[in-house]
Amino acid sequence: MSASEERYRDALEAAAGHARRWLESQGTRRIGPQATAAELAADFGGPLPQEGMPAAEVVDYLAAKAEPGLMAMPSGRFFGWVIGGTLPAALAADWLLSAWDQNTGLRFATPATAAIEEAAGKWILELLGLPEESDVGFATGATMANFTGLAAARWRLMADAGWDLDGDGLAGAPRIRCFVGQERHETIDLGLRYLGLGRPTVVPSDRQGRIIPAELDCALDLALSAGEGGRPVPALVCLQAGNLHSGAFDPLVEAIAIAKAHVDGAFGLWAAAVPELSALTAGLGLADSWGTDAPKTLNVPYDCGIVIVRDARALRSAMGLHAVYLIQAADGAGDPSERVPELSRRARGVPVWAALKSLGRDGVASQVRTLVHRAAQLADQLAALDGVEVLNDVDYTQVSLAFGDDAVTRAVTERVMGDGRVWMSGSRWQDRDILRISVSNWSTDDADVRIAVDAVRDALAAVRG
Ligand SMILES: Cc1ncc(COP(=O)(O)O)c(C=O)c1O
Repeated sequence: MSASEERYRDALEAAAGHARRWLESQGTRRIGPQATAAELAADFGGPLPQEGMPAAEVVDYLAAKAEPGLMAMPSGRFFGWVIGGTLPAALAADWLLSAWDQNTGLRFATPATAAIEEAAGKWILELLGLPEESDVGFATGATMANFTGLAAARWRLMADAGWDLDGDGLAGAPRIRCFVGQERHETIDLGLRYLGLGRPTVVPSDRQGRIIPAELDCALDLALSAGEGGRPVPALVCLQAGNLHSGAFDPLVEAIAIAKAHVDGAFGLWAAAVPELSALTAGLGLADSWGTDAPKTLNVPYDCGIVIVRDARALRSAMGLHAVYLIQAADGAGDPSERVPELSRRARGVPVWAALKSLGRDGVASQVRTLVHRAAQLADQLAALDGVEVLNDVDYTQVSLAFGDDAVTRAVTERVMGDGRVWMSGSRWQDRDILRISVSNWSTDDADVRIAVDAVRDALAAVRG
């Protein structure tokens, strides 16, 4: 064995051992970190050493020193934000991907990873019932997936209005009116800002955070009447499949009938894989583009966002880059780099492919179904406790709790966060402080649900004295 081969072997074996021990500790370990970033700074910082350290020792050092500062996000008892765990096949595929080290921008240069991504894309369309002509790209997360879908929409709306966006830019371009529900995720505004589309018009939502179609209609009418010279006003509505407080889905059929639509389904898009949740996602396939995050509900490791755009030409025009040294494949499937904002990139679709291959269609449906079931168990058992209000009335993966007034809710939240057995986060929703539970980990089981209910009950009892 050569010296370089030995160094790989030692480092990878050390990493595999540490990774296994970390994952095996998830069932019993404390969830929250026990050291702050400031406390850990000295272990990782200081002057850059003059001399290096053998690779396996670096890995051992990293694992030992990071341990107290790790949040047990892959644990079934982690309920903070919508994060998800990692499926074994997806995690292992992610390791392989790092070892392969394929810069998957060009189809002809990295055919294996390009073909795997194309297959994953087709499976996703099939699984979610989205138009088969759509193009699928793998970005870093839902934020960039949504940004990419919005960029394709901007390109198409400008082209339809007779404006050459690529040639003439935004100065003097027709104004695109963007509409969002009151409870859209803030990253939608960020995407619009990146694209120079400005602040969107905010349309009122109902008590669970769903956009109200009649209000969208009114807002659009108003914008149309303000249009110049009777010319049509380019308009785009950003809808949401899965509200992070209530789990609610916007009424897609009604809203999509009103304007060109992008759907942010960061964690909710996967509901479309479950036949009995079809009421939530009715009309999903009528939109023009969709964004989601694969770690959240599918449970691949971070990071991986998925953008799906019906109008492949608009996507590739918005994202494509052509240079003399980047030789494109002659066949028509297009290069991975034409579908996302980055040129040189990790083939994030590979862990997605592995997750789908290991679960199959039934397995994805069953995983989403289980998350929804766990959230219902939590909501039911918590609602039965004296002094607990469950504020959401949607059966998906989110549970929002209040405990009387805001001061009590804040005190309970603080105690739950410091409890160690589980981790949940605070938020503010419908003008109230809340304790928010997200069920997004495939491994959360009955015992985890029991522990979560105990942790909330104990925190409330302690606050009440
Ligand atoms: C509805 C919604 N949209 C967008 C995002 C942003 O996703 P990401 O963190 O993958 O960029 C989130 C994150 O939780 C979300 O819940």
